[in-house]
Amino acid sequence: MNEIPRGTLQEQTFYEQVGGEETFRRLVHLFYQGVAEDPLLRPMYPEEDLGPAEERLALFLMQYWGGPRTYSDNRGHPRLRMRHAPFTVNREAHDAWLKHMRAAVEALNLPEEHEHTLWNYLTYAAASMVNTPG
Ligand code: HEM
Repeated sequence: MNEIPRGTLQEQTFYEQVGGEETFRRLVHLFYQGVAEDPLLRPMYPEEDLGPAEERLALFLMQYWGGPRTYSDNRGHPRLRMRHAPFTVNREAHDAWLKHMRAAVEALNLPEEHEHTLWNYLTYAAASMVNTPG
């Protein structure tokens, strides 16, 4: 009686709300187009081909926001600060990373609330990745 059918009130994940895999792949692809042209960031990426790095970041973000857990299936626990330890992430690198991410986020044209949620996370995460003063 009076029972709400199961499922009708289930909340969508943020991953689903913003359009799922396609949205995250677009975001990360746009971001890496910026990185590819960036004189500070591009040399930091060890592989000649940015494709695999693009794949890793896309899978990580998809998983973080409630999508498939493929990132961890492939890479294990994210431990992102540790994985960034080999790279000099100083203020300048932080700012460049966020600059390209900002352009990519804006290009998605998400509803304002979603854009805000995503951007808040990215700025917080970028700040936490800084490992070198100056
Ligand atoms: C703050 C500036 C940042 C710089 C300069 C930076 C730079 C790098 C570099 C050079 C790599 C190695 C490329 C690769 O082999 O994948 C990398 C990997 C990665 N970064 Fe960042 N990063 C930054 C911030 C972030 C943030 C904020 C996140 C998450 C929101 C992130 C997520 C990742 C992921 C998931 C990987 C691949 C890890 C793996 O599985 O090996 N990075 N980053």
